[in-house]
Amino acid sequence: MASKSPIRVAVTGAAGNIGYAAIFRLASGAVFGPDQPVALNLIEVGPGLNALAGVVMELQDCAFPLLTDVVATGDLNEGFKDADWCLLIGAVPRKDGMERKDLLGINGKIFIGQGEAIARNAKKSVKVLVVGNPCNTNALIALRSAGNLPAENFFAMTRLDENRAKSQLAAKAGAHNSVVKNVAIWGNHSSTQYPDFTNALIGGKPATQVITDHAWLKETFVPDVQKRGAAVIKARGASSAASAANAALDTLRSLHFPTPAGDWHSVAVLSKGDYGISPGIMFGYPLRTKADGSWEIVQGLPIDAFSKEKIAITEKELLEERATASEALGLKL
Ligand code: LMR
Repeated sequence: MASKSPIRVAVTGAAGNIGYAAIFRLASGAVFGPDQPVALNLIEVGPGLNALAGVVMELQDCAFPLLTDVVATGDLNEGFKDADWCLLIGAVPRKDGMERKDLLGINGKIFIGQGEAIARNAKKSVKVLVVGNPCNTNALIALRSAGNLPAENFFAMTRLDENRAKSQLAAKAGAHNSVVKNVAIWGNHSSTQYPDFTNALIGGKPATQVITDHAWLKETFVPDVQKRGAAVIKARGASSAASAANAALDTLRSLHFPTPAGDWHSVAVLSKGDYGISPGIMFGYPLRTKADGSWEIVQGLPIDAFSKEKIAITEKELLEERATASEALGLKL
């Protein structure tokens, strides 16, 4: 057993498809490194508790050298106790005939309770990543419910979109994923997000020089990335799970370790007005994580007229979501 004290990660929806795909990699050391012990607080709602007991058995059966202890619970106070990280995956999915407003109302209540329980029980330095959809506004609700916890420690996931965008740019350019850098996802994790190819690099060169078919970038790449989640649902008959878990773990790793020089990673944070975005919405930005663990938004990127128009659309959607959620919950978010 390594000598560092463990990082305690609380995971909601731990026995669901995304949770199941995430927690074994957390326990294996794939996120925080081979010398960093990990403790898991696994949280499920009533109907998921039986499955969760099976997941705990499987964790035991892996005999992970880095896993110090596992708490499995349906109780939020116990679940968030002493957490360093909260990975909020569990949320009610949209069902047939349900309006977005209904979903924001139902999930909003869940994220109020979770934000409050995190503030009461987790470490004061806890960091929270929301994956459950609509993740930007759910993260805003959790943050607003979490008392004095610092707003800069709340995040919503746009990394799945970044990874999708990198893979599509790489395929079009005939390059490997690993040489595609500096892909920013602006705004909401929804079909209005803007995957920014104008600032992306492929093999160190602007993506717009490597891919000369600009009509493809604007008319195929952008909508394909925006609608990739729906395409996966159509093909699989279920939401993305393994790729969503992978992106959540990529986000944790990117927020834990300093960002390599010259690159960035995409995640939604509470807007304070950077790039002219309305303050007070959880907006996807390009971020750099510093050596001391704090982060900064990458400043000074050129935003052309095409990008400006796309960013305005996703900003408008997030403002509407905030208004809808405020009305459904009777809160001023
Ligand atoms: C995804 O991007 O794959 C999911 O967020 C889609 C969804 O609505 O579950």
